[in-house]
Amino acid sequence: MTSGGSLRLLHVLSILVSTTWSAFPHSLRYTLPVTTNKIVDINLTCDSENLNVTVSLRSPFKGLLFAKDFADECKSVGTLSNVMNISLPTSGCGVRLSSYEDENGSVKMFYHVNLVIQQDRYLRQIADQEKTVQCLLKDDAFLVKSTALENALRNDIKGGHNRINHRYEVNGMDS
Ligand SMILES: *[C@@H]1O[C@H](CO)[C@@H](O)[C@H](O)[C@H]1NC(C)=O
Ligand SMILES: *[C@@H]1O[C@H](CO)[C@@H](O)[C@H](O)[C@H]1NC(C)=O
Ligand SMILES: *[C@@H]1O[C@H](CO)[C@@H](O)[C@H](O)[C@H]1NC(C)=O
Ligand SMILES: *[C@@H]1O[C@H](CO)[C@@H](O)[C@H](O)[C@H]1NC(C)=O
Repeated sequence: MTSGGSLRLLHVLSILVSTTWSAFPHSLRYTLPVTTNKIVDINLTCDSENLNVTVSLRSPFKGLLFAKDFADECKSVGTLSNVMNISLPTSGCGVRLSSYEDENGSVKMFYHVNLVIQQDRYLRQIADQEKTVQCLLKDDAFLVKSTALENALRNDIKGGHNRINHRYEVNGMDS
């Protein structure tokens, strides 16, 4: 992806929400050598079709970046670069759409997904991190691409639930 003209349409705003360490039992915590490659930065771009994530790490990365619970279908394999990209379809991979009303009563929509940064390509380790990331959509990002979805969401908000995308069981830090 380059910073071409198409990017101007994307209305990008990204927020890194929160970090949790993978929930390993405490007794296991010091039984394996820890090789942690620290996350330096995460950027997200999204439109109604894709949630793209760019993770930059302190050291060259040869592990896996994947959407939690979708390690096979929605993964990106490190190529010893410090930067990892993953492009997730907003209709799958555990990506969920949520909304809130801001202080002025306008509806804001954002995608969120739980990502796992697995340090080794094959082994799960205690150093693996899980992060919930979210990407805020500008109001008209949907209007441009999908009026139907926007309407569906509006109805959904009245109902108090978001059921636009497939729901998956995720141990979320849902808002
Ligand atoms: C990741 O995406 C960024 C911007 O989207 C791009 O500049 C970069 O070349 C990509 N890196 C890799 C390793 O694909
Ligand atoms: C996400 O990445 C895909 C594949 O690189 C690209 O075609 C698409 O335009 C990107 N979308 C956004 C919102 O960045
Ligand atoms: C994220 O975006 C900021 C500001 O545009 C940029 O300085 C930084 O290099 C980006 N990081 C990644 C991992 O793409
Ligand atoms: C709400 O409206 C006020 C006054 O127009 C504005 O200053 C403020 O930035 C708005 N807040 C948000 C979250 O858009």
